[in-house]
Amino acid sequence: MTGAAVLLLDAAGPESAALARAAAGRGHQVHAATATADVPAPAPELAGQVVTDFARPDRAVEEITAYARRRGVGAVLTANEYLTELAALVCTELGLPGNDPHLAYAARDKAAMARVLAAAGVRVPYTRLVHDGTDLTDALADVRVGFPCVIKPVGGAGSAGVTVATSPAEAATAAATARMARGRYGDDAADILVQAYAVGDEYSVESVTQDAHTTHLAITRKAVTGGARRVETGHSLPVHLPPVTEAAVHREVAAAIRSVGIRHGASHTEVVIDPDGRCTVIEIAARLGAGHIGVLLQHALGIDVFAALLDVALGRPAALSPTARGHATVRFVTAPCAGRLTSLIGFPKPGPGVPFVRWRAAIGGVVNAAGVNADRLGAFVVTGPDAAEVEQRADLLARQIRVRVAPTPPAPGGPDQLSSASRSAIAP
Ligand SMILES: Nc1ncnc2c1ncn2[C@@H]1O[C@H](COP(=O)(O)OP(=O)(O)O)[C@@H](O)[C@H]1O
Ligand SMILES: [Mg+2]
Repeated sequence: MTGAAVLLLDAAGPESAALARAAAGRGHQVHAATATADVPAPAPELAGQVVTDFARPDRAVEEITAYARRRGVGAVLTANEYLTELAALVCTELGLPGNDPHLAYAARDKAAMARVLAAAGVRVPYTRLVHDGTDLTDALADVRVGFPCVIKPVGGAGSAGVTVATSPAEAATAAATARMARGRYGDDAADILVQAYAVGDEYSVESVTQDAHTTHLAITRKAVTGGARRVETGHSLPVHLPPVTEAAVHREVAAAIRSVGIRHGASHTEVVIDPDGRCTVIEIAARLGAGHIGVLLQHALGIDVFAALLDVALGRPAALSPTARGHATVRFVTAPCAGRLTSLIGFPKPGPGVPFVRWRAAIGGVVNAAGVNADRLGAFVVTGPDAAEVEQRADLLARQIRVRVAPTPPAPGGPDQLSSASRSAIAP
């Protein structure tokens, strides 16, 4: 082993695994801080782990920093959005490159985010913080909100508890849903936000900041389900917008990154661009984009973002320039309805132009209809030199997938009913 040890806050999930592999592959010992509630069997590349309660940040900072000092940790990273503030606090305590610990909450708490971004001159949806029923009534009567409006928890992620409501009745149900969608570690407030709906196409901007200098790696087009629950169904990058629009998007995103104190590390900023090219920032997260965006960056642009993030966290120069000029897209597979997964046909295998596939639902297991990003059953990546050809190939592969689900509650007619839920389960 060479160099300092690396500590990941939460080592679960594909992005954390890629960071762990990048670190281990370069000779670093890799350690993890893991939530008390869900201690997994340690991954083979982990040299050790500290188990702590992420819902009690003061104690978690103490326990993690004590562990990190004993193990000679020289870099702390997280791919887990819920832990980005904790990461900033731990980095400060250890004197390692990290984000501003006084502002890091603003990349987690969406009420603070809207406030801080607006104060920095970034265009955000008009937002009202709602504690109770009276606040909700007031917010819905506010002409700056209007219908449709978006109701979301202050501390959520992955679309959990987010609803686009088109009437006061829907808004009331949506508010109850948002209140129940507590953060992953159960430590956040039950407050919710009511937001004006931003009309336009959705994109995200993938950026890496080092010593407060930001490089925008790519703009990503997001495919999202319509209707009340917005689930991401695919990502494609790099997207080239008209130069004036692209410059405006980069300006807004850079200001957003500064305003939430991102100094060293990744950010994923979600924006809506309206038909006039105006950019509204929906949210910013102080982490790499999830949904295999790191894999897309690697295959489309030749940027090893995991190695780069490791270098940023270690305080070394990071390689962020593209070495390829291709295109990549990821498509997510969802269940056509809630129930028991009975069969899967036609899911792509890795091969030329399909560098990555991931299936995570067991045949016979219970699946949900897509309501949040976590309901996605699998994903595959298609890549190549030409954007249109890559998208066509991904569409073709998607059309060949058949996901069969026995709906819950079980249909009285038995197996014959299954075909009603059998169709291509890739959202267009
Ligand atoms: N103000 C808004 N206007 C339009 N769509 C929105 C707005 N807020 C959220 N959405 C939609 O809901 C999705 C999830 O909301 P978001 O704020 O990104 O929460 P999360 O942190 O759970 O991803 C977004 O990707 C977008 O499709
Ligand atoms: Mg989002």
